[in-house]
Amino acid sequence: MGTLIKNGTVVSSTTSTLADVLIEGETIAQVAPNIDPTGHTVVDASGMLVLPGGIDVHTHLDMPFGGTVSADDYEWGTRAAAIGGTTTVIDFALQSMGHPMTEAFKTWRAKSEGKACIDYALHMAVTDLGPNDAWLDDVDAMVAEGISSFKIFMAYPNVLMVDDATIFKLMQRTAKLGALVCVHAENGTVIDVIVRQALAAGHTGALYHALTRPVEAEAEAVHRVVTLAELAGNAPAYIVHVSCEESMREVQSARRRGLPVMGETCTQYLVLSLEDDMGKPGFEDAKYVFTPPLRKKKNQAPLWQALKDDVLQVISTDHCPFRFADQKTLGLDNFTKIPNGGPGIENRMQLAYHHGVNAGRISLERFVDLTAEAPAKIFGMYPKKGVLAAGSDADIVIWDPEAKVTISAATQNMHTDYSIFEGFQVKGNARQVFSRGELVVQGGHFLGTVGRGRYVHREVARG
Ligand code: URP
Ligand code: ZN
Ligand code: ZN
Repeated sequence: MGTLIKNGTVVSSTTSTLADVLIEGETIAQVAPNIDPTGHTVVDASGMLVLPGGIDVHTHLDMPFGGTVSADDYEWGTRAAAIGGTTTVIDFALQSMGHPMTEAFKTWRAKSEGKACIDYALHMAVTDLGPNDAWLDDVDAMVAEGISSFKIFMAYPNVLMVDDATIFKLMQRTAKLGALVCVHAENGTVIDVIVRQALAAGHTGALYHALTRPVEAEAEAVHRVVTLAELAGNAPAYIVHVSCEESMREVQSARRRGLPVMGETCTQYLVLSLEDDMGKPGFEDAKYVFTPPLRKKKNQAPLWQALKDDVLQVISTDHCPFRFADQKTLGLDNFTKIPNGGPGIENRMQLAYHHGVNAGRISLERFVDLTAEAPAKIFGMYPKKGVLAAGSDADIVIWDPEAKVTISAATQNMHTDYSIFEGFQVKGNARQVFSRGELVVQGGHFLGTVGRGRYVHREVARG
């Protein structure tokens, strides 16, 4: 006896079809029209969209940053994700300088063990190749552990930033292994100079976080890292949180040259802006201090177009929440001390659907591609995740395209005392969510057990 989702519109990156989905145990047994319901528990999905569970490939749960720790741990963050229609996250294990990657892997597995409410995987953020580059061999060890993507930061000097030699050596290794390098692209050393000059001039407010990180510093870093990837033997590279047209054009030009360069943008860059959200009085704009910062509104249309045209392949969140009252206020007198990041894991699907599909910017099928299928393919989880097909994990969202939601901190499940999308009205929401065949969300409530989420061993793209 299985669970039969009946009469819904099943959506993939290429088609939307009236069909039934039969779940047996943790996997999908069949997707076909008019499956005989005899002996099955039937879930009526008439009028609903049936989507592959969302995959958010950029989250920072329980992450130390700026003298504090992100406000959602694995329990809270993955519960909020599930409620929003996301059934898999890829979080970042951060290698500490002077310590091997294997240690970071153990630390991050311990943070998630017994806490994750949905399935999760890890990228390894590389900060140090070790004495005589000995820890380059950790890259192979991490691939064996199911980590097929390695993150480098070109920003945050003295904390996370790595130099070009490190990037290049890492890319030579990942190119050989078929692994992916994910890049936070910003020219960290130049930004550091601009930041010091701003502080010396007495500019300490949150707005200066944005004003000291120009778009050119992002675009230059994208250009440089694309060049390094090409030099390293066409190493596959994925640019995280592309925030502006200038950077997007660098990704576009690399792809036009046939290079294996991909990119994501995040919901905040698509719906928030420098003009609307920064410069608010009373330190309010500290809530919107992310890196890269919010950009001018004129960047939003080119970013949507890039998502539509496959210049960018993924919508993620960069969910890195900090409470306003006791965390953002660490930077009350100095914007460099404001912990960078914001909450968004719960709202990604709603915002991408409403501002993408409802607004006519992307098709329904492209929405599924950007939020589930392409993330699964790029990050080595397809077809286990990212598609509704026989044999795939039964990670399924029954999406009500008519449900109206007003986003608010008062009703959210993320553990912050504010929402960056406060008051946003969206149409379209997750009604039921299945994770590996288990109904974990119904009507906005999490029904699963804490710790049920499993680590996903990801594959490299060999051949
Ligand atoms: O502001 C952000 N994005 N915080 C998280 C770290 C990062 O750069 O992704
Ligand atoms: Zn980043
Ligand atoms: Zn991030």
